[in-house]
Amino acid sequence: MALEVIILAAGKGTRMKSNLPKVMHELAGYPMVYHVIKTALLLKPKKIHLVIGHGKEQIRDYIQSLDNNIKDNINLCVQEQQLGTAHAVASAIDKVDNKSDVLVLYADCPLVPLDVLEQLYAYLKDDNDLVLLSAQCEDPFGYGRIIRNNKGEFKKIVEQKDATDKEQLITEINTGIMAFSAQIFKQYFKKIHNSNKQQEYYLTDLPELLVKDKKKVQILEADDFELLQGVNDKIQLSIVESLYQQNQNMSLMAQGLTLLDPNRFDVRGHLKFGKDCVIDINVLIIGEVILADNVYIGPGCILKNVTIGANSKIDAYTIIENTTIKENCTLGPFARFRPGNIIENNVHVGNFVEVKNSHLNEGTKSGHLSYLGDSVIGKNVNIGAGCITCNYDGANKHKTIIGDDVFVGSDCQLVAPVKVEDNSTIGAGSTVTKTVPKDSLYITRASARIIDNYQRPKKNKA
Ligand code: UD1
Ligand code: CA
Repeated sequence: MALEVIILAAGKGTRMKSNLPKVMHELAGYPMVYHVIKTALLLKPKKIHLVIGHGKEQIRDYIQSLDNNIKDNINLCVQEQQLGTAHAVASAIDKVDNKSDVLVLYADCPLVPLDVLEQLYAYLKDDNDLVLLSAQCEDPFGYGRIIRNNKGEFKKIVEQKDATDKEQLITEINTGIMAFSAQIFKQYFKKIHNSNKQQEYYLTDLPELLVKDKKKVQILEADDFELLQGVNDKIQLSIVESLYQQNQNMSLMAQGLTLLDPNRFDVRGHLKFGKDCVIDINVLIIGEVILADNVYIGPGCILKNVTIGANSKIDAYTIIENTTIKENCTLGPFARFRPGNIIENNVHVGNFVEVKNSHLNEGTKSGHLSYLGDSVIGKNVNIGAGCITCNYDGANKHKTIIGDDVFVGSDCQLVAPVKVEDNSTIGAGSTVTKTVPKDSLYITRASARIIDNYQRPKKNKA
């Protein structure tokens, strides 16, 4: 039998107190629903049915923005009114093959581990009609409680709002995750009523109906409640975020990454790294970041979609986005790389230098306080302190091209479009507005005057 996954994501998420649909709130930089989809895909289901309702336009647009290999597996089902979890499953079930098995996941339970789901599905195939996932939880408030009979078998689930005082003491909770055959759901859905406190059609009534009908209902009790907790408010979201980061950092360290403090390091995306990479405190990684061997990232750096070559050193508080950095470079502290740069081997970019859409060739240095935008800079060029490529004329952006072995003195403006040829020298304080020929000196500095015995103005008496 094929497996199809139904992910419930139509609920309002009132407790988030937000205009954003609950499942669009981000965990490690991606909407919660994305994490659940990614985990579901690892089960290689025939189809994933995503039930949307509240904020459906935003979720639909988001799904449309995903890669084809993800979105092609997703069938969006609209639940117009949110009448409960069983009703939500019913809004997708017509699209599910009669011969398929169904796994129900909640989009607000984003850390659910793959191995637990595999085990749950294996239990279902082991001749059960329904398998549900429970967990022990110290503070079960808010969750449905599992009621077992005196033989320890499943009897029913009671929701928080419907539970008696005695039932509220039960610490075994319903995670919400369940597996059953499509046929079983189609057959029993009609029997689910909404005569409860919330006047909703509860999916939790399904196993009870099955047990009453002598069908086989099995409970899989998960060892780890932490990873199965639902996110209903911003406090739970922050708990789940820090769990995610902790687990990820433990796994990165196990793979050989040195983190000076795993409690002060976050990855919102993917980090690949070679041997002997060291990451100092308070570093943030976003998107796809690749570090070759022996790379050092100093404290407070932010790297977004960056590739860094071997033996490069990124000093404190450097921010780099959509940039490729080759080997043996020293960048920062306090440098900023906006998108579109290629930084070749042995380049040095120092403090308060901003680089955008530029190609810096091997051995070039820009140590202090400069702006290099829309530029191609040759090999072994020295850019003095305070140099600016004036790339914007108020309407359009223009390029600055600098050849090899050029020396640009401090405090120069290169008014683009402009070209500086190989081995030329630009005197400090110059404004470059025309091509600087190779091997020449270009200088626009006014010549100095000296006035001897100069008296400074004195302050007028009141
Ligand atoms: C549900 C379970 C509860 C369990 C808890 C685990 C029911 C009746 N209760 O309660 O036993 O302990 O999850 O977190 O199933 N949704 C829809 N359409 C709806 C209603 C909900 O798509 O009409 C979706 C929500 O978007 C959410 C999920 O279903 O992803 C769970 O809904 P929620 O309202 O959070 O259920 P809980 O009260 O937490
Ligand atoms: Ca919930």
